[in-house]
Amino acid sequence: MKAVQITGQQSQQELQLMDYPDPSPSDQQVKIDVKASGVNRADLAQRKGKYPPPPGVPEDIPGLEVAGIVMECGKQVARWKKGDQVCALLAGGGYAEQVVVEEGQCLPIPKRLSFAQAASLPEAIFTVWSNVFQRGALKKGEHILIHGGSSGIGITAIQLAKAFGAKVFVTVGSMEKAKACISLGADVAVNYKTENFEDLLIHQGVDVVLDMIGGSYLQRNISIMRPEGRIVYINAMEGNTAEINIAQVMQKRLTITGSTLRAREYAFKKQLAAEIQDQVWPLLESGSFTPQVYKTFSFEEAMLAHELMESSEHIGKIVLVR
Ligand SMILES: NC(=O)c1ccc[n+]([C@@H]2O[C@H](COP(=O)([O-])OP(=O)(O)OC[C@H]3O[C@@H](n4cnc5c(N)ncnc54)[C@H](OP(=O)(O)O)[C@@H]3O)[C@@H](O)[C@H]2O)c1
Repeated sequence: MKAVQITGQQSQQELQLMDYPDPSPSDQQVKIDVKASGVNRADLAQRKGKYPPPPGVPEDIPGLEVAGIVMECGKQVARWKKGDQVCALLAGGGYAEQVVVEEGQCLPIPKRLSFAQAASLPEAIFTVWSNVFQRGALKKGEHILIHGGSSGIGITAIQLAKAFGAKVFVTVGSMEKAKACISLGADVAVNYKTENFEDLLIHQGVDVVLDMIGGSYLQRNISIMRPEGRIVYINAMEGNTAEINIAQVMQKRLTITGSTLRAREYAFKKQLAAEIQDQVWPLLESGSFTPQVYKTFSFEEAMLAHELMESSEHIGKIVLVR
């Protein structure tokens, strides 16, 4: 098969489509003929040597999600058969013509969706479901603030939070991104380059924050939390350390938590997939949640896809297609 591999030295690392040995499935795995692979911010970090995959996952092929057709099943696979169309969450190796993955990390492609749309779903939906609804325990009628509203994670969190009855605030870096988030259902979009989100949201207050910025955003989040609020971290792009007012955490009885999905054990991901199929797949089937594919690239153009993501011009997801 061919796969998009990380080549070159240190900071000069690039992506190239090259020959690679075909993978073979273990007893619990399916092998997928990949038609599309989602691009995620984490892939850029892996290319730069800053986010190595967990043991057993190819180090030189990025890619955390795919959609395609099952071409082979391990002996103990019960749920899928050859020819089934699936999308799947991976711990790496997704920019390839073939992948192997545990059967419980696959979901059926929702009706009417293309392979590119289906490949844009798993990483963001698994992350949002586990962090906003499980860890953050977002409830109907509550207020959520989603930083990076136009990111792949953001467009997913906006649509799911709205579908489950929350009031949604987002931060974005431009008016164009603000408009896009409002059209997806956000109630208020704050351009963080021209306004302070805490000044605008202090009176309404927030129950849950989904934050990938970190650094100075932590104290700014704390300042607008309602009592019993939950701040959930999925990255810290501005920085891993912050100074906070502990008294405010105590007075408001806040919870500050976070998680990373990639290295979690199979049992967790399998359970998450089942919950997502039950709770989120009906929204995709009915069209009340729509995938947002901003741009597709061929596998040969993977480096251009990374450059677009690095520029942060995109709104929603970037996908590689065959
Ligand atoms: N923990 C986990 O398990 C997990 C899983 C998946 C993703 N993630 C993390 O979630 C984040 C989003 O991932 P993605 O693949 O969706 O990436 P993405 O589409 O590239 O999104 C990154 C976004 O961050 C926004 N941003 C940058 N600085 C900001 C600031 N100061 N305030 C508000 N927004 C800001 C950018 O938008 P602007 O142009 O508007 O600035 C951009 O839309 C990444 O940090 C990724 O590592 C974590």
